Amino acid sequence: MATYRVATIPGDGVGPDVVSAAVAVVDAAGRAFGFSIEWTEIAAGGNAIDRFGVAIRPEDVEACRKADAVLLGAVGGPKWSDPSASVRPEQALFALRGALGLFANVRPVKVHPALVASSPLRPELLDGVDLLIVRELTGGLYFGDREEAGPGPGDRRAQDTLPYTEEEIRRIVRVAGAYALSRRGHLTSVDKANVLATSRLWRRIVDEERSVMPSLTISHQLVDSCAMLLIKQPAAFDVIVTENLFGDILSDEAAVLAGSLGMLPSASLAERQNRHEGFFGLYEPIHGSAPDIAGQDMANPIGTILSAAMMFFSSLKRSDVSKAIEAAVAAALDDGFRTADLVPAGADEVGLRRVGTVGMTEAIVERIAIPEAARETAAART
Ligand code: IPM
Ligand code: MG
Repeated sequence: MATYRVATIPGDGVGPDVVSAAVAVVDAAGRAFGFSIEWTEIAAGGNAIDRFGVAIRPEDVEACRKADAVLLGAVGGPKWSDPSASVRPEQALFALRGALGLFANVRPVKVHPALVASSPLRPELLDGVDLLIVRELTGGLYFGDREEAGPGPGDRRAQDTLPYTEEEIRRIVRVAGAYALSRRGHLTSVDKANVLATSRLWRRIVDEERSVMPSLTISHQLVDSCAMLLIKQPAAFDVIVTENLFGDILSDEAAVLAGSLGMLPSASLAERQNRHEGFFGLYEPIHGSAPDIAGQDMANPIGTILSAAMMFFSSLKRSDVSKAIEAAVAAALDDGFRTADLVPAGADEVGLRRVGTVGMTEAIVERIAIPEAARETAAART
């Protein structure tokens, strides 16, 4: 029987709620398809600060490196949010991204037809929205030198820097280009070339890459105008590639299109391959730790469950399992199951079944189906 080794990082807030939901769905897929998962739980974020005094211990970063993939919930919360504290939960994310070389953050945004009413945008704007944001994740402002100086009030200053090398730009543009080739063939590179030197370098590298990817339509867009067009004509985008901070901001903006932040998955990929010849990656929902609803069976687990589907596709090389999980999520939505975030205030709830995290997870687990044609292959594997 195939065995996959997955490290989980439940983290803080709703993180444990949504990770245990995804684990239940993956285990159900394992029973249907005949594989098993060796789960290892790793402490990171605020709970790790409480237990060990650091956001993640070096040996836990190493344990993640040894896994085939990592599934993360969320980190952070008011208890640890003092910006002047020297240890903060988010440091776990930066340690993992940096140490494991997770340079390519991939955030797909698709609007499920049943959720069009949950988005604040007019339905006709959402028709056909299916875009992918590829965000550079280990460079730029997040990893540049920074300084907070000055003796006191009246004399304080701070500085962040935004460095990029040619190679860092080229490799993320190539990842995004490969995604665009497997989709509709349009790549939009987003920058601020009218102001920033790094953006001008970014543009030059993108232009140099045109000859490597001749079948793509590649265009440049300034980040402010991209922010506007994401709302005005979101269906026009296919793949967007951009630097770290722009990608952070644009992906939260794009999430609004899907009706709820709770719906969206992400993958952070490294260059190295694992023993299944997939890319090593860390998978997580794009929502945060939502401490106000933690542990109350309220969080929408779909972003994490779809992140697990991405994990099967990119790291474990099981597109069959990935598709079955996505289909089960779509079927649960089609059958009217909705967590609170998916029911707009004042909505007509006829035909909807309000559920919590557990109810949504059960609805998805019940809908995991192995396609008829794959039954024999799965039987042969076991
Ligand atoms: C994200 C988050 C993180 C980021 C925060 C929590 C540091 O917003 O993954 O998008 O800015 O990268
Ligand atoms: Mg963000």
